[in-house]
Amino acid sequence: MKQAPDAPLKQLDDWDDFVATRYRQGKSEEEFRNYQADANPTVTEFYRQNHAYQTFDFVIQKKAEYCGLTRGKKSIWEMAEFLNTLVDDSDPDTDLTQTEHLLQTSEAIRKDGHPRWFVLAGFVHDLGKVLCLYGEPQWAVVGDTFPVGCAYSDEIVFPEFFAANPDSKSAKYQSELGIYGRHGGLDNVHLSFGHDEYIFQVTRKYVPEEAQYMLRYHSFYPAHRHGAYRHLMNAHDEQMFEWVRKFNEYDLYSKGRERPKQREILPYYQELVAEFFPEQIDW
Ligand SMILES: [Fe+2]
Ligand SMILES: [Fe+2]
Repeated sequence: MKQAPDAPLKQLDDWDDFVATRYRQGKSEEEFRNYQADANPTVTEFYRQNHAYQTFDFVIQKKAEYCGLTRGKKSIWEMAEFLNTLVDDSDPDTDLTQTEHLLQTSEAIRKDGHPRWFVLAGFVHDLGKVLCLYGEPQWAVVGDTFPVGCAYSDEIVFPEFFAANPDSKSAKYQSELGIYGRHGGLDNVHLSFGHDEYIFQVTRKYVPEEAQYMLRYHSFYPAHRHGAYRHLMNAHDEQMFEWVRKFNEYDLYSKGRERPKQREILPYYQELVAEFFPEQIDW
């Protein structure tokens, strides 16, 4: 399959795999710092685009486009089916579908005895990747997220690629706080646009706040993994990030487990989804 110029990744999941490698359990700090060696050229090119094109204006424009949820009504299940159409050059015998990836995450959460809303968050957390099927380039769908409108943290991977972002030349966007207030709260901060923000907006009316944080910030690695941007967070964010960190363990490490037995577990998930969501929701 020929790659579009704005689609350096062979599969969208190549980004997830790179992140999982970066934080492989037991990796020393030194091994971690060497993450560039783990990034193949397509992943590197992906970050080059992501850091160059995710400007403040771009984020505002995409939020206006998608966060009003005007793309019609669909059930969670219809969207999961739709997302499964994403990978068109996969090997059906070995590659997991997107739904299977989601079920691996949620099943790992369920096995550890966490509350039902936590399992639910695992099951829906990557549905926002349908942005790709709406025609958004990879760099606007996945990637570690970071605030726009203030200075870039060195804890973001490949920080050198921000030199190509026009915002890096703007004094008002490059002070520590930029356009934001100290400890003004993350709800007021615009992060680079992607599948986290979209699934948060779609589900926010239906899931508890802890789950909202998990969905909205699960790719915000500079903050939940490295403690960056605490000057933008308020005390409530700090509390809620405990949940984001808990969630991240499952997001990172549940891949590569056994293939979920979909037929067996489906009734549980049908009941779970129906408990929190009406039949159809706005996307
Ligand atoms: Fe994700
Ligand atoms: Fe994920």
